[in-house]
Amino acid sequence: MNKNTITDFLVLGSGVAGLRAAIELSKYGNVTVVTKDRPAEGSTGYAQGGVAVALSDEDTIGFHFNDTIKAGAGLCNKRAVKVLVEEGPERILELISWGAKFDMLGEKLSFGREAAHSINRIIHAKGDATGEEIESALLNKVKSIPNISKLPFCFTVDLIVKDNICRGALLLSATGEVFPVFAKAVVLSTGGCGQLYSRTTNPAVATGDGLAIAYRAGAVLLDMEFVQFHPTALYLPAAPQFLLSEAMRGEGGILKNIKAERFMYKYHPDAELAPRDIVSRAILSEMRAAKSNFVYLDMTHLNRKFVRERFPKIYTTCLQYDIDITEDLIPVSPAAHYIMGGVKTDTNAATSIKGLFAAGEVACTAVHGANRLASNSLLEGLVYGARAGEAAGRYMKHVKDINSFVRRYAMPKKRIIKKVAFDIDKIRSSLRKMMWAKTGIVRCKKSLNEALEKLKGWKRIEGTFFKIRRELEVKNMITVARLITTAALLREGSVGAHYRSDFKEKGSDWRKHILFKGQ
Ligand code: SIN
Repeated sequence: MNKNTITDFLVLGSGVAGLRAAIELSKYGNVTVVTKDRPAEGSTGYAQGGVAVALSDEDTIGFHFNDTIKAGAGLCNKRAVKVLVEEGPERILELISWGAKFDMLGEKLSFGREAAHSINRIIHAKGDATGEEIESALLNKVKSIPNISKLPFCFTVDLIVKDNICRGALLLSATGEVFPVFAKAVVLSTGGCGQLYSRTTNPAVATGDGLAIAYRAGAVLLDMEFVQFHPTALYLPAAPQFLLSEAMRGEGGILKNIKAERFMYKYHPDAELAPRDIVSRAILSEMRAAKSNFVYLDMTHLNRKFVRERFPKIYTTCLQYDIDITEDLIPVSPAAHYIMGGVKTDTNAATSIKGLFAAGEVACTAVHGANRLASNSLLEGLVYGARAGEAAGRYMKHVKDINSFVRRYAMPKKRIIKKVAFDIDKIRSSLRKMMWAKTGIVRCKKSLNEALEKLKGWKRIEGTFFKIRRELEVKNMITVARLITTAALLREGSVGAHYRSDFKEKGSDWRKHILFKGQ
């Protein structure tokens, strides 16, 4: 790409929300999709369980609404939930018309069950490869649209914002060149930040970059204390922290402690299908009682052929590590999975910065409240990605000219560190361990203050202008860790996925939302 490139729309991120936004934006002008890795390398592609959508004969929009609100523990934005559940079916049918193939039962879609759903509502593809199917259908659709171009392996260093108007982004190419791309509107869809934790289901790219760049640009961020921990990620020291879908428990999988005793009924009447935060804390408590790093997920009582066919990816992956899920107990432990908070948007994906829209995990409409209902995130990406595209497209009509801004633009005169004075990999690793231990599933004032103290020691990194992806990632991780930890300290109560051992009740002001204005 040339220096001083101008495009109509810049989409940062190529997961479900970004691609769906790009497709919508292509109706209004030229679109450039920027991604820091290869386009398919994001959380979307790794999603297993599926998509929650009210499309079965037994289901209604109202049931899906109620389950989402209940899971969100009283902190969902009801308007955002209404939009999600009402527009969801249309977005899925559209995706099917673009070639996505979901698993069928005869002539009808096959619906699975996951925790906190009152009905079988989860559509899935190739058993447990739903994200891969959606990502590939969207990438194929994007390929067929001539005015969408992709810019892979480009890291977004910062947003270009002047007078609270977003005009593009500063990018770092794979060859180390920093250059601006100007746009009439920008859609931020960079995903989440699971890599802040030493145990996570998220891919290596999920380092919270979008949250940090939006914060640095002055955007408002919301509900950052709400981090969801998935109860079951594979726990084998030599294996990746591979997600073991909640759908496995939905199909009858049982959790057992290391004495092979079933324990979930002690914690919740819905047992293995209790809300995720309750299952994660129950597992942690069993692990602590037994001084063990894991519990077991047991599928061995289920029909072998069914398990192999329903979970082909999980079956073959576990087999690579000598676990046959049809015969062996599977060692599992919780892992950071999804952040409900993010860049504050309205239901049209508009942020507090003009010309900057956000959708997907990086954004926060408060649709998930304090705890996301399983399998609502791919649907959110589709619904709010399309909305972001439409809103940004309409916004562009009012943008008169950016050429004069481009002519006057001067690259930031920040001191670029060529040779890093920090041991970035060491800092990354200690940050991840610290977040897991101090700002993890169970937090308290003492642990959160210890985390903030450690983060203070890395403050200088946040002010440094790096030119290497890994260093920029660590800088962003420090910022996001600070925001999560500060919000967790400010919320003196336990709601949804946020659990304080020193404030086990909700507290009288639990309905509040914690906002940070970026700087
Ligand atoms: C899973 O398959 O368990 C993950 C689904 C989700 O997080 O929504």
